[in-house]
Amino acid sequence: MNTLTAVKQHAADVSRSANGFTVAPSRQSPRMLELTFSAQVTKKFLQQVEQWPVQALEYKSFLRFKVGKILDDLCGNQLQPLLLNTLLNRSEGALLIGAEGIDNVAQADEMVKLATAVAHLIGRSNFDAMSGQYYARFVVKNVDSSDSYLRQPHRVLELHNDGTYVEEVTDYVLMMKIDEQNMQGGNSLLLHLDDWEHLQRYFTHPLARRAMRWAAPPSKNVSHDVFHPVFDVDAQGRPVMRYIDQFVQPKDFEEGVWLSDLSDALENSKNILSVPVPVGKFLLINNLFWLHGRDRFTPHPDLRRELMRQRGYFAYSTPHYQTHQ
Ligand SMILES: [Fe+2]
Repeated sequence: MNTLTAVKQHAADVSRSANGFTVAPSRQSPRMLELTFSAQVTKKFLQQVEQWPVQALEYKSFLRFKVGKILDDLCGNQLQPLLLNTLLNRSEGALLIGAEGIDNVAQADEMVKLATAVAHLIGRSNFDAMSGQYYARFVVKNVDSSDSYLRQPHRVLELHNDGTYVEEVTDYVLMMKIDEQNMQGGNSLLLHLDDWEHLQRYFTHPLARRAMRWAAPPSKNVSHDVFHPVFDVDAQGRPVMRYIDQFVQPKDFEEGVWLSDLSDALENSKNILSVPVPVGKFLLINNLFWLHGRDRFTPHPDLRRELMRQRGYFAYSTPHYQTHQ
């Protein structure tokens, strides 16, 4: 090891021991950071939250914030500002998060606790009508009889935003891999809005800001339609999107043709990231300027994948968020 490498290694070690986690740009894109909690912090966190089973977090909302505080305290209170700065920073807005020692489906409850802690440092996870909880766990198998492409394995789940057919604000999406058996393919697909070659063409089109109707199939347990445009702007006037191909209901030929073209323009982007998410890890993205989807996977009779999701809104006090936008 030369001197420079040794210095860098020392700096990394110091930062690791001070904060309890490491953070680095991902292999796929500098816009996405990879954050890993150290084995020591993971162990201490799980010990300190052991007194509460997941059911306690379901029944008492405030405990979700309490487990977040425990995790942040173990990280020298450096975690909360880092999460907020990354997620609210337009040039980033995405994290792949894991914890050393959490990598097996037998630890599913521990995974839910860890993800809950992280999510409740940045805001609050919404009620998920599909599960009746603040999170949803669901299984993908070789054969599927559901009424949307969410759980159908052998085809691409097209790029979309979450929360398009509900009234609740959906600022963030958290997607965790709880289990994976006999899987080939099926990477998460991500596209940052500013990397989309056709953004200006669609964002400036007259239909971009027209309110359209969005309706979900029965399994989503959402009975009423909502109306909003595909595009909007954030506080700084930059484009944000609220779009999903399966649930938008064009009212006429003009809307239908435009939406169909838009769908092709998204799916054909050359800048889609393909991200493998190992068991025990989760993606956490800003849902307003990142689109997500899932690549197809190879059929296998014993294929099994279990996922957990949380969607919610950002809520933070200003001292925690100081990055220039
Ligand atoms: Fe989604």
